[in-house]
Amino acid sequence: MCSTKDREQNMKNTVAVILAAGEGTRLKSAKAKVLHKAAGQTLLAHVVNAVRRAGVEKICAVVGHKKEEVKKEFANEEIEFVFQKELLGTGDAVKRTVSYLKKEKEIDQVLVLCGDAPLIRSESIEDMIQSQRENESACTVLTGILDNPASYGRIIRSSDGSIEKIVEYKDATEKEQAVQEINSGAYCFDKNALIKGLNQLSQENAQKEYYLPDLIKVFVQEGARVDGVTVNDVSEVLGINSRMDLALAEKAFQKRINLFHMENGVTLMDPDTIYIDSRVTIEPDTIIYPFTYIEGEVKIKKNCHVGPFTQLRQGTLLEDGAEIGNFTEVKKSKVGKNTKAKHLSYIGDTVIGDKVNIGAGTITANYDGKAKYVTIIEDGAFIGSNCTIVAPVKVGKNATTGAGSVVTKGHDVPDNGVVIGVPAKLIKKKVNA
Ligand code: UD1
Ligand code: CA
Repeated sequence: MCSTKDREQNMKNTVAVILAAGEGTRLKSAKAKVLHKAAGQTLLAHVVNAVRRAGVEKICAVVGHKKEEVKKEFANEEIEFVFQKELLGTGDAVKRTVSYLKKEKEIDQVLVLCGDAPLIRSESIEDMIQSQRENESACTVLTGILDNPASYGRIIRSSDGSIEKIVEYKDATEKEQAVQEINSGAYCFDKNALIKGLNQLSQENAQKEYYLPDLIKVFVQEGARVDGVTVNDVSEVLGINSRMDLALAEKAFQKRINLFHMENGVTLMDPDTIYIDSRVTIEPDTIIYPFTYIEGEVKIKKNCHVGPFTQLRQGTLLEDGAEIGNFTEVKKSKVGKNTKAKHLSYIGDTVIGDKVNIGAGTITANYDGKAKYVTIIEDGAFIGSNCTIVAPVKVGKNATTGAGSVVTKGHDVPDNGVVIGVPAKLIKKKVNA
């Protein structure tokens, strides 16, 4: 085993090539396959994130079908894009990256990952990199053992446990089809072996494509070793080829995300009915009740109560002890400490202070048909039931809005003010509030 420092260095000497040129015919979509989403992020973003979490900095993506769309989506990321004009197979896709690989002199290991296999874990990426280096093998393949190996490539091992070849399902004999160990489509190659081997691939197979996995045979013939690292959690190898696969990926992500939060001290009362986007952060001792949907970059601090039947959307922050209850939607808003909005509300583009009570049925009207505006509700305010607060407007500290009032835009409620009616009028100011 090598030291942490060696490990970090290994990651720096590695480039990740992500194959993302394919069309994804079976999704029947106008959109590029890798831009379909699961758990709130594109398939390709999940792969990129796993690579980055593993500490690999250099990423090269092979794009082809709808390439401009894909490049645009990742315009802010440091990714080298390489174009594959004709989809001649995974071997050809990697071949397109050779001039880039040669240019990156300090790189000696090349990870190859599929842009349509979003569930790969960073730990598996690290394992492949370490295994390839430690065994000095030409390649380490990430494999999975499946009850139903379907149309994945089959791993054929030799008697010493190393990998002899990978056979595509369509080219496999009956005996080979019976093998349950499959190729995940993720590999870590020795750079020089990869570059040399790519020239020896042919299209003589059932699909008339250059198969990347055929490299294994080439390496073995030359006396080099090929190893496998097998995943424990088979969801990791799931490749997305259909809408059904997309739904399976979503389920697998949800399971993983829910577990992660529970392990971090969050109570999920009924995980099966709770949806949490991969970008959500939740602090310990928060309780999420059933039928809750949390999407986008949402931050929930400790001791909060969320749900049942709640929707939290992009850009929402719940401070310690906030409570958001049934049939309440919160979008791009900050909810202060111990503030409660427990029933039937829409809160959008709103900044709410601490210890505010939002009465049942309150709506912050943030959109006038053209633009969105901000509502501010300061500490200690009491918003009566069924109020409409029309932004831009501010409700001051410890102010009260009577039940059913409509606070109109620009008519700020002063600190300690009490307003009622439609439109809301100031009737008094509280003393010693
Ligand atoms: C591939 C593997 C198979 C493995 C499976 C895992 C080959 C020949 N087979 O099969 O052994 O079990 O992945 O999911 O590699 N791509 C390109 N350019 C191309 C062709 C493909 O960029 O010319 C990309 C696709 O966009 C996709 C990835 O490569 O992201 C895999 O290609 P795909 O055609 O889906 O391969 P599979 O048939 O699934
Ligand atoms: Ca595939």
